[in-house]
Amino acid sequence: MAPPAADIDLVSHTSTGPIQVKKVSAESSLKGPLVNSGSLDQYNSFDVTKVIGREFPDLQLSDILADDQKIRDLAITVSQRGVVFFRNQSLNIEEQKVLGTKLGELTGKPESSKLHRHALSNSKRGIAVDENGKLDDEVSIISSEQNRKFYKDRFTNKSKVLASEGWHADITFERIPSDYAILKIIKKPEDAGGDTLWASGYEAYDRLSPDFQKLAESLTATHYQPNFVKVAKEFGEELIEQDRGAPENTGLDFTASHPVIRTNPVTGWKSLFGAGHQIEHGWIDNVTPRESEILKAYFLQLITNNHDLQVRFRWGENDLAIWDNRSVFHTATNDYDGKRQGNRVVSLGERPYFDPNSVSRRQALGTA
Ligand code: SIN
Repeated sequence: MAPPAADIDLVSHTSTGPIQVKKVSAESSLKGPLVNSGSLDQYNSFDVTKVIGREFPDLQLSDILADDQKIRDLAITVSQRGVVFFRNQSLNIEEQKVLGTKLGELTGKPESSKLHRHALSNSKRGIAVDENGKLDDEVSIISSEQNRKFYKDRFTNKSKVLASEGWHADITFERIPSDYAILKIIKKPEDAGGDTLWASGYEAYDRLSPDFQKLAESLTATHYQPNFVKVAKEFGEELIEQDRGAPENTGLDFTASHPVIRTNPVTGWKSLFGAGHQIEHGWIDNVTPRESEILKAYFLQLITNNHDLQVRFRWGENDLAIWDNRSVFHTATNDYDGKRQGNRVVSLGERPYFDPNSVSRRQALGTA
């Protein structure tokens, strides 16, 4: 069950000073987990690993976009399997945005949650999302050239930082973060590499002992992303400061406190959420700094040191992945010299919550 509605003002800090932002309830309208009707069973598919990932090798998403039952079943499949893969898709960018909107709308997301407008990776960087030169703030451009310019060491194959530092879920620094993300790789590097990996937050939760699960369920974490403001200052770039897809996603704070264990309303399953790069600069709330460091390190280890809760995808041109940002982490692999570009549509979901009556994935599947 989602938290009760709230209607109080918040303060956000913009480049022109503090402003009041209206807080809306932003809760899921679902009263319980959704059941898959089986409408996608007619298409060839396989589970890529035991706990995470499914691939539909033949299905063209443009063929089912107008069929709400199939898109709802697709959303349920993504939420259950964490990430779902499709090959060589014809879906254009407008259709990709329609899909991004429908996945959440057909699975109970709040009306106030729209498509995310990324503070930095937006039209102001001048990178087109299609062959007609279209610029679009509702598409976050994943560009090797832009990443190498802005983030240097982390995004070169000569990097000396730990690659494991890249594990994250998208935009969790927003007060209203994402439900689904859709990434289509429109240019893959001329050389090898550029794979993406995903890790199951459901399975990470299931690897905790019952007493540690209780501790984790009692915690919240502050997610913090200081890099956009740093990059904007260093390169003289302008950021999107207002209404990044939901009224509360406003300001330059890029800070939000969310439950460490989050219930996914579509599956009703508990997932590790407060972990990875999104809290690298943040902290676990209401514990000592040392306790926060220890908990953060352990939660990250659950993701990085368990290759059996991860799936790795080797992209072909126009391949597409859809994932549920509430319940998976992912990381890019920056091991190539060539150029790589993807169009990512990120939709916003409900305000994150923990429902003590929700269950773990293993419990739900009877494998606990
Ligand atoms: C992302 O972090 O959403 C992009 C992943 C990738 O570039 O492989």
